[in-house]
Amino acid sequence: MRVVRTRQELIQARAGLPVAGPVGFVPTMGALHAGHRALLESASADCDAVLVSIFVNPLQFGPNEDIDRYPRALDEDLAACRAAGSTVVFAPSVAEMYPTGPPRTAVDPGPLGAELEGQVRPEHFRGVLTIVARLLQLARPDAAYFGEKDYQQLVLIRQMVDELDMGVRIIGCPTVREPGGLALSSRNRYLSAPERERAGSLIRALRAGVAAGPGGAEAVLNAARGCLTDLEVDYLTLRAPDLGPAPERGPARLLVAARVGTTRLIDNIPVLLGEA
Ligand code: PAF
Repeated sequence: MRVVRTRQELIQARAGLPVAGPVGFVPTMGALHAGHRALLESASADCDAVLVSIFVNPLQFGPNEDIDRYPRALDEDLAACRAAGSTVVFAPSVAEMYPTGPPRTAVDPGPLGAELEGQVRPEHFRGVLTIVARLLQLARPDAAYFGEKDYQQLVLIRQMVDELDMGVRIIGCPTVREPGGLALSSRNRYLSAPERERAGSLIRALRAGVAAGPGGAEAVLNAARGCLTDLEVDYLTLRAPDLGPAPERGPARLLVAARVGTTRLIDNIPVLLGEA
């Protein structure tokens, strides 16, 4: 496995890959956990070579979000990438990616970027799409892998790739959960034992919503809401799979965001509405 630090090195490493088959790409911000390992393994299973990026992107952090508090563990991350059979890891510095400060050119996520997570984190998706577009441009993969845990991010990346004709397949991978059901996230490390217990009500709410699916949207939201005790809920919403308005029947997505102490958690699940 090769580790490269500059954009030029990545371009050269990509051009020199001795593979005829598909090249996969897994963009990350490091602090890799089993959810990331599942992305690396999916990419390795599908592709002849796997590129990984590890970059804590300042552009997607708001003024009230402490980027310095974001966990960093490069040595462990490189070991995880090596163990998963990755081919190249791109780990640039902030100065390498933004040599003249925040870029003047950015990707506008459109109206969906201002909803849900975008209501609490106004510039977040603009920052995510801008770095993902650049990384895709540098890595030129055939397929890129993202977790369904950050469902709105996944939908917006699909939208960008589709509307800007970026010619890469976006693969959404199922959320990996702790045995108790808590979705894996680098933020879980901030939860105390009692907070972790309380956070369990997120997945209980989502599963209650799924069970109520045959009764329709109102039944789903009521069932889920009933489980969200002891948390400060930012939103609980039922949408179409593309995050447009929920249909009356058929596939939908139930999404929740809540604060447990000072830690903000998000989760989501597919729901089938109006069908037993
Ligand atoms: O999901 C993440 O880890 C980040 O938002 C991403 C896609 C790597 C962009 O910085």
